[in-house]
Amino acid sequence: MNIVCIGGGPAGLYFALLMKQQNPAHDITVVERNRPYDTFGWGVVFSDQTMEHMRQWDKATADEIEQAFNHWDDIELHIKGRVIRSGGHGFVGIGRKKLLNILQARCEALGVKLVFESEVDSDADFPDADLIIASDGINSRVRTRHAEVFRPDIVTRPNRYIWLGTKRLYDAFTFLFEKTEHGWFQAHIYKFDETTSTFIVECPEHVWKAHGLDQATADESVAFCEKLFADNLRGERLMTNARHLRGSAWLNFQRITCEQWSLFNGRSHVVLMGDAVHTAHFAIGSGTKLALEDAIELTKQFRDHGNHIDVGAEEIADVLKNYQAERRVDVLRLQNAAWNAMEWFEACGERYCDQLEPEQFMYSMLTRSQRISHENLRLRDKQWLEGYERWIAARSGLAEPADHHGPAASAARGRVPPPMFTPYTVRGLTLKNRVVVSPMAQYSAVDGMPGDYHLVHLGARALGGAGLVFAEMTCPSPDARITPSCPGLWNDAQRDAWRRIVDFVHQHSDAKIALQLGHAGPKGSTNEPWVGDGADRPLAHGNWPLWSASALAYEPGATDVPRALTRADMERIRDDFVAATRRAAEAGFDWLELHCAHGYLLSAFISPLTNRRADDYGGSLANRLRWPLEVFQAMRAVWPHDKPMSVRISAHDWVEGGITPSDAVQIAHAFKAAGADLIDCSSGQVSPEQKPVYGRMFQTPFADRIRNEAGIATIAVGAISEADHLNSIIAAGRADLCAVARPHLANPAWTLQEAAKIGYTAIDWPAPYRSGKSQMETLIQRERAALGAAGAAPATKPRGDGA
Ligand SMILES: Cc1cc2nc3c(=O)[nH]c(=O)nc-3n(C[C@H](O)[C@H](O)[C@H](O)COP(=O)(O)OP(=O)(O)OC[C@H]3O[C@@H](n4cnc5c(N)ncnc54)[C@H](O)[C@@H]3O)c2cc1C
Ligand SMILES: Cc1cc2nc3c(=O)[nH]c(=O)nc-3n(C[C@H](O)[C@H](O)[C@H](O)COP(=O)(O)O)c2cc1C
Repeated sequence: MNIVCIGGGPAGLYFALLMKQQNPAHDITVVERNRPYDTFGWGVVFSDQTMEHMRQWDKATADEIEQAFNHWDDIELHIKGRVIRSGGHGFVGIGRKKLLNILQARCEALGVKLVFESEVDSDADFPDADLIIASDGINSRVRTRHAEVFRPDIVTRPNRYIWLGTKRLYDAFTFLFEKTEHGWFQAHIYKFDETTSTFIVECPEHVWKAHGLDQATADESVAFCEKLFADNLRGERLMTNARHLRGSAWLNFQRITCEQWSLFNGRSHVVLMGDAVHTAHFAIGSGTKLALEDAIELTKQFRDHGNHIDVGAEEIADVLKNYQAERRVDVLRLQNAAWNAMEWFEACGERYCDQLEPEQFMYSMLTRSQRISHENLRLRDKQWLEGYERWIAARSGLAEPADHHGPAASAARGRVPPPMFTPYTVRGLTLKNRVVVSPMAQYSAVDGMPGDYHLVHLGARALGGAGLVFAEMTCPSPDARITPSCPGLWNDAQRDAWRRIVDFVHQHSDAKIALQLGHAGPKGSTNEPWVGDGADRPLAHGNWPLWSASALAYEPGATDVPRALTRADMERIRDDFVAATRRAAEAGFDWLELHCAHGYLLSAFISPLTNRRADDYGGSLANRLRWPLEVFQAMRAVWPHDKPMSVRISAHDWVEGGITPSDAVQIAHAFKAAGADLIDCSSGQVSPEQKPVYGRMFQTPFADRIRNEAGIATIAVGAISEADHLNSIIAAGRADLCAVARPHLANPAWTLQEAAKIGYTAIDWPAPYRSGKSQMETLIQRERAALGAAGAAPATKPRGDGA
């Protein structure tokens, strides 16, 4: 094959040498616009795993790289005069120049033709090539030329960064955070050879502009950064690599993805590789890793499906298709992790730097990509993590056990409660831990009366170890129900039925019990999910009139059109909520939540998708919130002062023009001002048009943002399904409580089981159940040991990125 690589960065060079090595008969040329042994940039980092991969493919290159490597384990944070360090993170760094020199020399040794100082205009310049690798970097001309086929998505991010170097040698991956009169700056620093460290400075656009850096020359910018980080630089200078665009000026990161990675231009097959087809933010330092692994995968595909010189056009097309299919998922996974890490650095000045204490800030930073969990951190640096667990426990009001002799103390010795098992106090109430059984409609009431079913259902979950158990959405009037089988609290008989359940929970468990009050609004008068046409479908008989902010059906054509509330209706319904609140207090509930989410009545007022009113209750967010806040305040006024109230909101409608997470912060501010103690951060279900992005802990970023921007405690909920998730969320300060719904359907004692799984034995079981405790713990330990022996370690340690 005649192969041309346009661009001699890591992707083009490595692919060229691997293919040449695989079959020396290939005619391979790399065309690079820069001079030989000349490059931009400072050092790059990648992982032990990438090295291992490279070793399998070309030992000679891997050996050379390994000799030039700098390896380091620690991450060090400097913020607000504090220095915090943790170990076990395992990075390798190398100068970009050194890396390219090694690849260039190896190319030459194998017989790859290297053409330097030659700017390529287009892939059409090589009509004789069978295969053209467009490894021409982030601004790829080839990608732009064929944009209609490659369909690139290029997102320019708001932060500014400058890629500098320094002779000060750092012995850890170091992060500096410095506050100025206009906002926060951060520096990401790592040593990459015996004399130099990479020093990337980053800040939000508005901070950058406020300092006049948009008008500054490269030298002025360097002088600014030197002054800003002078204490840390200890007299060393910062350097630019000003001959090339990168490293010489402030840039915005561009996240690139492409729908299609290859095409046939009429003469040659053209395929994108490296930064030309995907970029990953430097917050996770993986752009070079991705470029090298692309090269490996394409070589592998040729080895498996066409490793001969006269490979046919159809074979090449198949190979390129396989290459994209194989790489796409891995690349997306890494890009997602990099995206989370990038967003963390973009938001940290607004959200974390001032708000979190340095200890928690460090934890939040280490887990920024959501790839590194609590147990991963334990594997990396047990001592540091245990110190942090003690810190969190102390912040929750727990002292170290004073009695070092009792059985509980001996079990707990050396192992303070993990974050999810620390207590939480709000107003006059203390929860024994941070686990909440999320409200879940059971559609099992008759005429709004909770019965034996509810006693057994909620009673079992109260015995199961969670700190707080929510009863399902309960309605203040018959026409507020979702289905005829939803429970209510509009009469004294219902109050007394609830009291029986609350009394059981209080007498037989140390869990607390919460009530969620809600009005179904436009989503009422429907079937139980398992009846007739299923959930959200109108009843066949016995329908009742629906209410909403505006006369808009939830699902036009399929659900009934509601009536828009008049002011008199608003007062009636508000008074129903107040009466139900009084009854909830009389029934002895510990906690009350107002349901303002999921497209139900109060949510329908808040979302612009469902509220089209032209009066004081429609239009601006403040207007749309007016009546929900009025209802909340009226309830708060009669709910006992020492008991907490939360509000569940849909923090994202997942529909263009709907509520966004930034609106959710404003909503939280408003409820906080009205006296709410916590915001329960759900999302969606407001419109059937929604396009939620599901995934592990997918709504937790909303809880995080609201907690740390609006300054109110939050409950995270949604796909939180193991102890490791809860521990990371609580420890990082992303939420104060975690609600777990579906896992509690299958297993009422989910909390007790999760405690056993993470080896936390100092948890109380209900006295009659205790003989099951040690058996469960033993069985789980035995299972883990067996898994370990089979080579499937329960917790893995992703390496080679900071997060
Ligand atoms: C601030 C910063 C920090 C980074 N830190 C890291 C890190 O720690 N770890 C990491 O792995 N990655 C890091 N990266 C990313 C890394 O630099 C890239 O992801 C990686 O170099 C991609 O390799 P590539 O071969 O695809 O592209 P490049 O390295 O960009 O190579 C493309 C080559 O093509 C040449 N070229 C372009 N157009 C033409 C043309 N028309 N004709 C001829 N030649 C052309 C260019 O001169 C260049 O040499 C960082 C990037 C930045 C900006
Ligand atoms: C069967 C079922 C019923 C639910 N009923 C309610 C409800 O009454 N009120 C409410 O706010 N959320 C309700 N939800 C949503 C859950 O509280 C929770 O937010 C959601 O299931 C995501 O959490 P999970 O991933 O842990 O299941 C319900 C969920 C399920 C599965």
